[in-house]
Amino acid sequence: MSRRRPIYEGKAKILYEGPEPGTLVQYFKDDATAFNAQKKGTIEGKGVLNNRISEHVMTLLGNVGIPTHFIRRLNMREQLVKRVDIIPIEVIVRNIAAGSLSKRLGIEEGTPLPRSVIEFCYKSDEHGDPLVGEDLITAMGWMNPRELDEVMGLSLRVNDFMSGLFAGIGIKLVDFKLEFGRYYVNEEEHQILLADEISPDNCRLWDAATSEKLDKDRFRRDLGGVAEAYQTIARRLGIRIDPQTEN
Ligand code: TMP
Repeated sequence: MSRRRPIYEGKAKILYEGPEPGTLVQYFKDDATAFNAQKKGTIEGKGVLNNRISEHVMTLLGNVGIPTHFIRRLNMREQLVKRVDIIPIEVIVRNIAAGSLSKRLGIEEGTPLPRSVIEFCYKSDEHGDPLVGEDLITAMGWMNPRELDEVMGLSLRVNDFMSGLFAGIGIKLVDFKLEFGRYYVNEEEHQILLADEISPDNCRLWDAATSEKLDKDRFRRDLGGVAEAYQTIARRLGIRIDPQTEN
């Protein structure tokens, strides 16, 4: 564990002060929560896997021109990222009905949506991350209309890229959640960066042939084989983790 000064502890990660101004160290824990932390557990090795999976996906996204907070991986559980002010909105992109969308509207899980859809949730565990609309987001100043437009455009580009990436390894990208932040270049200017992580914690990933769930729904729904599912995703992405050093 890092000896640096902790800045923020979330449910699955800890953020430490980075070695240079404008940076943070993002430490991936094995802890897992669901249903606004009402359900708690640990998934052995999850932090190591998510650190690697998020590194892999963020690097590929960076290569196709998506601005991300990722700088480089430091060790088995830590990565160096740009320090951003997180926008308090979770952006959910859905390709296939599942989870809360299916529950809310009675659409059977697995039904392909006519087109990809974006939903927004206000980040507040206390209120259960409620769904919010674009009008409320701009009215409350969580994002201005220009930022909202940029975030939606980036989210759809991430969806296009990731859908192809996962299709190529026999996995359906059902839905996922993104978080964005403002990176201050100076006091007035900021850039919007993709932040947080991209991993089976915040994506629904189904085997293309069998529809087997290879993501955190295995934990949420007590299906067992959680760590194995995350390992399958890492392996299919071509990520090799040395079991000796976990590096
Ligand atoms: P949902 O169907 O439960 O609304 O979830 C949609 C997607 O967002 C799914 O891939 C899981 C992810 N997600 C998170 O990453 N964090 C959350 O707190 C929730 C509720 C969902």
